[in-house]
Amino acid sequence: MQIIAVANQKGGVGKTTTSTVLASGLYSKGHRVLLCDLDPQTNASFMTGVDVLSVANLYDVFKGEKTVKETIVPVRLGFDLLPGSLLLAAADSEFTQTGREYMLKEALDSIKEQYDYIVIDTPPTLGILVTNALTAADKLIIPVGAGDIFSLQGLTQFYGIIQNVRKYCNHELQISGLLITRYNSRSNVNQALKGQVQQIAEQMETKVFKAAIRESVSVKESQLLKEDLFEQAPRSNAAKDYQAFIREFLEGEV
Ligand SMILES: Nc1ncnc2c1ncn2[C@@H]1O[C@H](COP(=O)(O)OP(=O)(O)OP(=O)(O)O)[C@@H](O)[C@H]1O
Ligand SMILES: [Mg+2]
Repeated sequence: MQIIAVANQKGGVGKTTTSTVLASGLYSKGHRVLLCDLDPQTNASFMTGVDVLSVANLYDVFKGEKTVKETIVPVRLGFDLLPGSLLLAAADSEFTQTGREYMLKEALDSIKEQYDYIVIDTPPTLGILVTNALTAADKLIIPVGAGDIFSLQGLTQFYGIIQNVRKYCNHELQISGLLITRYNSRSNVNQALKGQVQQIAEQMETKVFKAAIRESVSVKESQLLKEDLFEQAPRSNAAKDYQAFIREFLEGEV
Protein backbone atom coordinates (compact mmCIF):
# COMPACT_ATOMS: atom_id res chain seq x y z
CA MET A 1 0.00 0.00 0.00
CA GLN A 2 1.44 3.32 -1.13
CA ILE A 3 0.29 6.89 -0.71
CA ILE A 4 1.49 9.14 -3.53
CA ALA A 5 1.21 12.92 -3.36
CA VAL A 6 1.39 14.92 -6.58
CA ALA A 7 2.48 18.43 -5.65
CA ASN A 8 4.15 21.66 -6.76
CA GLN A 9 3.01 25.06 -5.52
CA LYS A 10 3.23 26.41 -9.04
CA GLY A 11 -0.18 26.50 -10.75
CA GLY A 12 -1.05 24.76 -13.99
CA VAL A 13 1.92 22.39 -14.15
CA GLY A 14 -0.16 19.24 -14.60
CA LYS A 15 -0.76 18.10 -11.01
CA THR A 16 -4.42 17.26 -11.52
CA THR A 17 -3.83 15.76 -14.96
CA THR A 18 -1.01 13.61 -13.59
CA SER A 19 -2.97 12.49 -10.51
CA THR A 20 -6.08 11.49 -12.44
CA VAL A 21 -4.16 9.77 -15.25
CA LEU A 22 -1.96 7.99 -12.69
CA ALA A 23 -5.06 6.83 -10.79
CA SER A 24 -6.58 5.55 -14.06
CA GLY A 25 -3.39 3.84 -15.17
CA LEU A 26 -2.86 2.08 -11.84
CA TYR A 27 -6.53 1.05 -11.77
CA SER A 28 -6.31 -0.40 -15.28
CA LYS A 29 -3.36 -2.52 -14.14
CA GLY A 30 -5.71 -4.17 -11.65
CA HIS A 31 -4.80 -2.17 -8.55
CA ARG A 32 -7.26 -0.88 -5.98
CA VAL A 33 -6.97 2.90 -6.24
CA LEU A 34 -8.31 5.89 -4.33
CA LEU A 35 -7.87 9.41 -5.72
CA CYS A 36 -7.98 12.07 -3.05
CA ASP A 37 -8.88 15.64 -4.07
CA LEU A 38 -7.22 18.00 -1.63
CA ASP A 39 -7.49 21.06 -3.88
CA PRO A 40 -10.27 23.62 -3.14
CA GLN A 41 -10.51 24.14 -6.92
CA THR A 42 -11.88 20.55 -6.97
CA ASN A 43 -10.63 19.95 -10.53
CA ALA A 44 -9.95 16.27 -9.89
CA SER A 45 -13.49 15.74 -8.60
CA PHE A 46 -14.88 17.60 -11.61
CA MET A 47 -12.75 15.64 -14.08
CA THR A 48 -13.96 12.36 -12.62
CA GLY A 49 -17.58 13.46 -12.94
CA VAL A 50 -18.39 14.17 -9.29
CA ASP A 51 -20.50 17.19 -8.32
CA VAL A 52 -18.82 18.29 -5.09
CA LEU A 53 -21.78 20.40 -4.03
CA SER A 54 -24.02 17.37 -3.72
CA VAL A 55 -21.77 14.88 -1.93
CA ALA A 56 -20.01 14.60 1.40
CA ASN A 57 -16.38 15.60 1.01
CA LEU A 58 -12.99 16.00 2.64
CA TYR A 59 -14.01 19.21 4.36
CA ASP A 60 -16.72 17.31 6.25
CA VAL A 61 -14.12 14.71 7.18
CA PHE A 62 -11.70 17.33 8.50
CA LYS A 63 -14.52 18.93 10.48
CA GLY A 64 -15.27 15.55 12.02
CA GLU A 65 -18.77 15.52 10.58
CA LYS A 66 -18.31 12.54 8.24
CA THR A 67 -16.10 9.50 8.23
CA VAL A 68 -13.88 8.82 5.21
CA LYS A 69 -15.84 5.66 4.59
CA GLU A 70 -19.07 7.65 4.24
CA THR A 71 -17.37 10.08 1.90
CA ILE A 72 -15.63 7.88 -0.68
CA VAL A 73 -17.50 7.50 -3.97
CA PRO A 74 -16.78 5.20 -6.92
CA VAL A 75 -16.29 7.15 -10.16
CA ARG A 76 -17.02 6.28 -13.77
CA LEU A 77 -13.37 5.70 -14.56
CA GLY A 78 -13.47 2.75 -12.13
CA PHE A 79 -11.42 3.84 -9.14
CA ASP A 80 -12.68 5.52 -5.95
CA LEU A 81 -12.63 9.25 -5.17
CA LEU A 82 -12.44 11.16 -1.93
CA PRO A 83 -14.13 14.38 -3.15
CA GLY A 84 -12.71 17.83 -2.47
CA SER A 85 -14.51 20.97 -1.39
CA LEU A 86 -14.40 24.68 -2.14
CA LEU A 87 -14.62 25.16 1.62
CA LEU A 88 -11.08 23.83 1.95
CA ALA A 89 -9.93 27.21 0.60
CA ALA A 90 -10.06 28.57 4.16
CA ALA A 91 -8.20 25.60 5.66
CA ASP A 92 -5.18 27.65 6.79
CA SER A 93 -7.24 29.94 9.00
CA GLU A 94 -9.91 27.42 9.91
CA PHE A 95 -7.79 24.50 11.12
CA THR A 96 -5.49 25.90 13.78
CA GLN A 97 -5.46 23.06 16.29
CA THR A 98 -2.33 21.23 17.37
CA GLY A 99 -1.76 18.28 15.08
CA ARG A 100 -3.48 19.93 12.13
CA GLU A 101 -0.75 18.60 9.80
CA TYR A 102 -2.02 15.09 10.49
CA MET A 103 -5.70 15.49 9.53
CA LEU A 104 -5.38 13.72 6.19
CA LYS A 105 -3.01 11.05 7.46
CA GLU A 106 -5.42 10.16 10.25
CA ALA A 107 -8.37 10.13 7.89
CA LEU A 108 -6.59 7.82 5.43
CA ASP A 109 -5.31 5.51 8.17
CA SER A 110 -8.82 4.17 8.66
CA ILE A 111 -9.24 2.98 5.06
CA LYS A 112 -5.78 2.64 3.56
CA GLU A 113 -5.65 -1.13 3.78
CA GLN A 114 -8.53 -1.29 1.32
CA TYR A 115 -6.29 0.16 -1.40
CA ASP A 116 -3.05 -0.58 -3.18
CA TYR A 117 -2.50 3.07 -4.09
CA ILE A 118 -3.88 6.34 -2.80
CA VAL A 119 -3.08 9.29 -5.09
CA ILE A 120 -3.42 12.80 -3.66
CA ASP A 121 -3.98 15.82 -5.90
CA THR A 122 -2.94 19.04 -4.18
CA PRO A 123 -3.55 22.79 -4.60
CA PRO A 124 -0.97 25.23 -6.02
CA THR A 125 -0.10 26.63 -2.59
CA LEU A 126 2.32 25.99 0.26
CA GLY A 127 -0.21 25.97 3.08
CA ILE A 128 -1.64 23.44 5.47
CA LEU A 129 -3.34 21.37 2.75
CA VAL A 130 -0.04 20.62 1.04
CA THR A 131 1.60 19.94 4.41
CA ASN A 132 -1.19 17.45 5.09
CA ALA A 133 -0.56 15.72 1.77
CA LEU A 134 3.20 15.51 2.39
CA THR A 135 2.62 14.24 5.93
CA ALA A 136 0.30 11.48 4.73
CA ALA A 137 2.40 10.45 1.71
CA ASP A 138 5.05 7.79 1.23
CA LYS A 139 6.09 9.18 -2.15
CA LEU A 140 6.01 12.56 -3.82
CA ILE A 141 5.83 13.25 -7.55
CA ILE A 142 6.58 16.83 -8.60
CA PRO A 143 5.24 17.79 -12.04
CA VAL A 144 7.12 20.60 -13.73
CA GLY A 145 5.49 22.39 -16.67
CA ALA A 146 7.88 22.66 -19.61
CA GLY A 147 5.89 25.35 -21.37
CA ASP A 148 6.44 27.92 -18.65
CA ILE A 149 9.88 29.33 -17.97
CA PHE A 150 8.72 30.38 -14.50
CA SER A 151 7.80 26.83 -13.69
CA LEU A 152 11.08 26.22 -11.85
CA GLN A 153 10.79 29.32 -9.72
CA GLY A 154 9.76 28.40 -6.23
CA LEU A 155 10.96 24.80 -6.33
CA THR A 156 13.72 25.64 -3.86
CA GLN A 157 11.13 27.08 -1.49
CA PHE A 158 9.01 23.97 -2.00
CA TYR A 159 12.02 21.82 -1.15
CA GLY A 160 12.33 23.77 2.13
CA ILE A 161 8.76 22.75 3.01
CA ILE A 162 9.50 19.13 2.08
CA GLN A 163 12.55 19.17 4.36
CA ASN A 164 10.49 20.63 7.21
CA VAL A 165 7.82 17.98 6.79
CA ARG A 166 10.54 15.32 6.81
CA LYS A 167 11.97 16.79 10.00
CA TYR A 168 8.76 17.30 11.97
CA CYS A 169 5.93 15.23 10.49
CA ASN A 170 7.04 12.46 8.11
CA HIS A 171 10.62 11.19 8.24
CA GLU A 172 9.96 8.60 5.56
CA LEU A 173 8.75 10.92 2.78
CA GLN A 174 10.54 10.10 -0.49
CA ILE A 175 10.65 12.23 -3.61
CA SER A 176 10.07 9.78 -6.48
CA GLY A 177 11.06 12.37 -9.01
CA LEU A 178 10.34 15.45 -11.08
CA LEU A 179 8.02 14.83 -14.01
CA ILE A 180 8.26 17.15 -17.00
CA THR A 181 4.80 17.86 -18.38
CA ARG A 182 3.45 19.70 -21.42
CA TYR A 183 6.73 19.04 -23.20
CA ASN A 184 7.42 20.07 -26.77
CA SER A 185 10.64 18.60 -28.16
CA ARG A 186 10.67 21.12 -31.00
CA SER A 187 10.88 24.07 -28.63
CA ASN A 188 14.37 25.28 -27.69
CA VAL A 189 12.99 26.66 -24.45
CA ASN A 190 11.74 23.19 -23.52
CA GLN A 191 15.11 21.64 -24.34
CA ALA A 192 16.97 24.19 -22.22
CA LEU A 193 14.54 23.74 -19.38
CA LYS A 194 15.21 20.02 -19.29
CA GLY A 195 18.82 20.68 -18.23
CA GLN A 196 17.73 23.02 -15.48
CA VAL A 197 15.17 20.53 -14.18
CA GLN A 198 17.97 17.97 -13.96
CA GLN A 199 20.04 20.36 -11.83
CA ILE A 200 17.15 21.04 -9.48
CA ALA A 201 16.49 17.32 -9.15
CA GLU A 202 20.10 16.86 -8.06
CA GLN A 203 19.71 19.58 -5.44
CA MET A 204 16.60 17.79 -4.18
CA GLU A 205 18.49 14.47 -4.21
CA THR A 206 16.02 12.94 -6.60
CA LYS A 207 15.75 12.19 -10.31
CA VAL A 208 13.91 13.46 -13.35
CA PHE A 209 11.62 10.79 -14.80
CA LYS A 210 12.90 9.75 -18.22
CA ALA A 211 9.36 9.92 -19.53
CA ALA A 212 8.48 13.56 -20.25
CA ILE A 213 4.79 14.13 -20.95
CA ARG A 214 4.31 15.80 -24.30
CA GLU A 215 1.78 18.55 -24.89
CA SER A 216 -1.18 16.87 -26.52
CA VAL A 217 -4.64 18.14 -27.36
CA SER A 218 -6.12 14.78 -26.35
CA VAL A 219 -5.40 15.62 -22.69
CA LYS A 220 -7.84 18.52 -22.84
CA GLU A 221 -10.33 16.54 -24.93
CA SER A 222 -10.45 13.61 -22.53
CA GLN A 223 -10.78 15.98 -19.58
CA LEU A 224 -13.62 17.87 -21.23
CA LEU A 225 -15.43 14.61 -21.93
CA LYS A 226 -14.50 13.29 -18.46
CA GLU A 227 -13.13 10.21 -20.17
CA ASP A 228 -10.08 8.08 -19.51
CA LEU A 229 -7.14 9.38 -21.60
CA PHE A 230 -5.94 5.80 -22.22
CA GLU A 231 -9.32 4.75 -23.64
CA GLN A 232 -10.19 8.00 -25.36
CA ALA A 233 -6.86 8.54 -27.15
CA PRO A 234 -4.59 5.54 -26.53
CA ARG A 235 -2.26 6.47 -29.38
CA SER A 236 -1.85 10.11 -28.39
CA ASN A 237 1.59 11.30 -27.35
CA ALA A 238 0.38 12.11 -23.84
CA ALA A 239 -1.17 8.64 -23.36
CA LYS A 240 2.06 6.95 -24.52
CA ASP A 241 4.17 9.19 -22.30
CA TYR A 242 1.95 8.70 -19.26
CA GLN A 243 2.10 4.91 -19.82
CA ALA A 244 5.90 5.13 -19.90
CA PHE A 245 5.89 7.29 -16.78
CA ILE A 246 3.65 4.86 -14.86
CA ARG A 247 5.87 1.94 -15.90
CA GLU A 248 8.93 3.87 -14.75
CA PHE A 249 7.24 4.80 -11.47
CA LEU A 250 6.29 1.17 -10.79
CA GLU A 251 9.79 -0.04 -11.64
CA GLY A 252 11.14 2.39 -9.04
CA GLU A 253 8.88 0.70 -6.48
CA VAL A 254 10.69 -2.61 -6.44
N1 LIG B 1 0.26 17.01 -21.57
C1 LIG B 1 -0.65 18.00 -21.70
N2 LIG B 1 -1.03 18.38 -22.94
C2 LIG B 1 -1.94 19.39 -23.10
N3 LIG B 1 -2.54 20.03 -22.09
C3 LIG B 1 -2.20 19.68 -20.84
C4 LIG B 1 -1.25 18.65 -20.57
N4 LIG B 1 -1.13 18.54 -19.22
C5 LIG B 1 -1.97 19.44 -18.69
N5 LIG B 1 -2.61 20.14 -19.65
C6 LIG B 1 -3.59 21.22 -19.47
O1 LIG B 1 -2.96 22.25 -18.72
C7 LIG B 1 -3.85 22.83 -17.80
C8 LIG B 1 -3.28 22.68 -16.40
O2 LIG B 1 -3.18 21.30 -16.09
P1 LIG B 1 -3.60 20.79 -14.64
O3 LIG B 1 -4.95 21.29 -14.27
O4 LIG B 1 -3.37 19.32 -14.62
O5 LIG B 1 -2.50 21.53 -13.76
P2 LIG B 1 -2.48 21.73 -12.20
O6 LIG B 1 -1.05 21.78 -11.79
O7 LIG B 1 -3.34 20.74 -11.53
O8 LIG B 1 -3.14 23.18 -12.04
P3 LIG B 1 -3.55 23.88 -10.65
O9 LIG B 1 -2.27 24.34 -10.04
O10 LIG B 1 -4.46 25.00 -11.05
O11 LIG B 1 -4.24 22.84 -9.82
C9 LIG B 1 -5.18 22.11 -17.98
O12 LIG B 1 -6.00 22.87 -18.81
C10 LIG B 1 -4.80 20.81 -18.67
O13 LIG B 1 -5.81 20.37 -19.52
MG1 LIG C 1 -4.89 21.02 -10.18
